[in-house]
Amino acid sequence: MVLTGKKILIGVSGSIAAYKTILLVRLLTKAGAQVKVVITKAAADFVSPLVLSTLSQEKVLSDLSEGDAWANHVMLGRWADLMVIAPLSCNTLAKMATGLCDNLLMAVYLSATCPVMVCPAMDEDMWHHPSTRDNLSRLRGWGVQVMPVGNGSLASGLTGEGRMAEPEEIFDVIFQQISGETKQALLGKKIVVTAGPTYEPIDPVRFIGNHSSGKMGIELARALRAEGAEVHLVLGPVSAPDPEGMNVQRVTTAQEMFEATKAVFDSCDMAVMTAAVADFRPANPFESKYKKQPGKQLPVIELEENPDILAYCGSRKKEHQITVGFALETNDALEYAKKKLDSKSANIIVLNSLQDIGAGFGGDTNKVTILTNRDQLVALPLMSKAEVAKAIVNAIIEYSA
Ligand code: PMT
Repeated sequence: MVLTGKKILIGVSGSIAAYKTILLVRLLTKAGAQVKVVITKAAADFVSPLVLSTLSQEKVLSDLSEGDAWANHVMLGRWADLMVIAPLSCNTLAKMATGLCDNLLMAVYLSATCPVMVCPAMDEDMWHHPSTRDNLSRLRGWGVQVMPVGNGSLASGLTGEGRMAEPEEIFDVIFQQISGETKQALLGKKIVVTAGPTYEPIDPVRFIGNHSSGKMGIELARALRAEGAEVHLVLGPVSAPDPEGMNVQRVTTAQEMFEATKAVFDSCDMAVMTAAVADFRPANPFESKYKKQPGKQLPVIELEENPDILAYCGSRKKEHQITVGFALETNDALEYAKKKLDSKSANIIVLNSLQDIGAGFGGDTNKVTILTNRDQLVALPLMSKAEVAKAIVNAIIEYSA
């Protein structure tokens, strides 16, 4: 049997679609999986715990304690190979997005160490409400896999989007997830990534630069590669070694970064620009080292503007191309980031602010807010740059789906 030895935890929240969960539990146990079920109080109004316990051959759990015994939610969350919440009601979705822990299902979700998948079920208007979109984006940003909803007749009598996926479809995705046969979402996509600082020479030994280490961009390039993309990384002067599995092109100045990006952009599906590009460069760099001499006048360095690589790509992108930029701000961060979406014709801007401790240049962590030109906004907590990169890639995948 294909799922023999696999442990699957099913969470059921209050929705009429809970009747489909009965069939899902049946499919999973027939395939050899060990299934445990946790339900909310509201779910018990829609589906009988007796049916679920008979099919799973396990006691159905719903309370944080039974008599004077405590239901150990931490161990349940650690027991499973996969947790699937089906159906996911609007109410449970909102709790997951905010970490509200007021029942056993939420306690198990919050302590789960395994991958989590959710199967939303709600009425069409609820499904299209901005809060639902935002809550789902947050979950996706945290790595939760969201099953698409179906289109058809709804419990309200209306017809539209919001139906929970069919049990057979959910079973297929569970099987893929557990057997490691998940499809890489960016397979076949070519993506150019810029990373690191640029150095603008004043003379052969001095330059105008910034503190970028390239870490954020390298992690993003790796996360895009992990999803199957062919990555062309245009990397400014950093000490980090070339990441593996991608084409790395080293550059020094903004002009070089521009030329390197321009050369590949038309053949790419996406441009992700994490580089801290110098906006200005010395117009007339000295040919030899500018010497300090007693009585000699201090040099006046005239600056000229560098090309804006993100704005260039934004202005010439075709319909299938997506541009993603960063915004590094020190004040009025959200306002400036929103302006950059527009002024650089970007699909997505990832904001990081130097006012947030642990965010921005150099370190191994970052704290970002992801904004899209569809008015979506997801604020993420402080995380490692590798985790931030994964969350950004999930947001990109969701945007381009
Ligand atoms: O490299 P790390 O040490 O890990 O630090 C990561 C980071 C702080 C550099 C990164 O997270 C980040 O914020 N990168 C963008 C920094 C920046 O220059 O922001 P900006 O607001 O000035 O630029 C906005 C966007 O336009 C960026 O996507 C930038 O790459 C792009 N740009 C800017 C100027 C220019 N001439 N060409 C550009 O393409």
